[in-house]
Amino acid sequence: MRFDIISCQPDLLESPFSHSIVKRAQNKGLVEIHLHDLRKFAINKYGQIDDYAFGGGAGMVMMIEPIDKCISGLRAERDYDAIIYMTPDGQPLNQKIVNQFSLLQNVIILCGHYKGVDERVRQQFITHEISIGDYVLSGGELGAAVLADAIIRIVPGVLNDESSALTDSFQDGLLAPPVYTRPADYKGLQVPEVLLSGDTPRVEQWRFEQAVARTRERRPDLLD
Ligand code: ADE
Repeated sequence: MRFDIISCQPDLLESPFSHSIVKRAQNKGLVEIHLHDLRKFAINKYGQIDDYAFGGGAGMVMMIEPIDKCISGLRAERDYDAIIYMTPDGQPLNQKIVNQFSLLQNVIILCGHYKGVDERVRQQFITHEISIGDYVLSGGELGAAVLADAIIRIVPGVLNDESSALTDSFQDGLLAPPVYTRPADYKGLQVPEVLLSGDTPRVEQWRFEQAVARTRERRPDLLD
């Protein structure tokens, strides 16, 4: 799977893609991430990519021309399955959307800044608009990192233990059950006996019950 991420602050994205599972996915050749600096497509030698909003008001608006040049250049090279714009007024991200995106081959993610992008960008180029939550970030980069990370870890072959992504919170509509590791007794704090029993069906039943109980307590909306 290939990601092309368009940003006016691509340096912000270097670190999230240089570690751990996301890094391993790239090293294994399962994922490619290409960062594109929007300023390279600026309309003048001063690196201008934004301008005042027509009609007045505070805040700058990202111009259509640099974004058009960048996206058109990419589209001339290959077809894209999705061109995603990160924005607080987008569709709230959830595991179902992540699962759907993970089936795609080529994806562009456009990171917004300032007051957002000229509406014509959204009309002409964008196929999906995604928000990572009901709060406003200073730019779409952290949202893009969250989205790409969530997708990449479930791309087939990325996780060593294939089953572990399937038992994540949300993957079956439930929060994940509690987990424990050694020691079985830490200063009198005991691990539930069933987990030490070696009785796999009992363990599975316990985990399911715990997942349901935890979901009912913390996120009853998921059970509806
Ligand atoms: N850009 C700014 N805020 C955002 C949010 N909540 N989600 C996605 N992109 C954003």
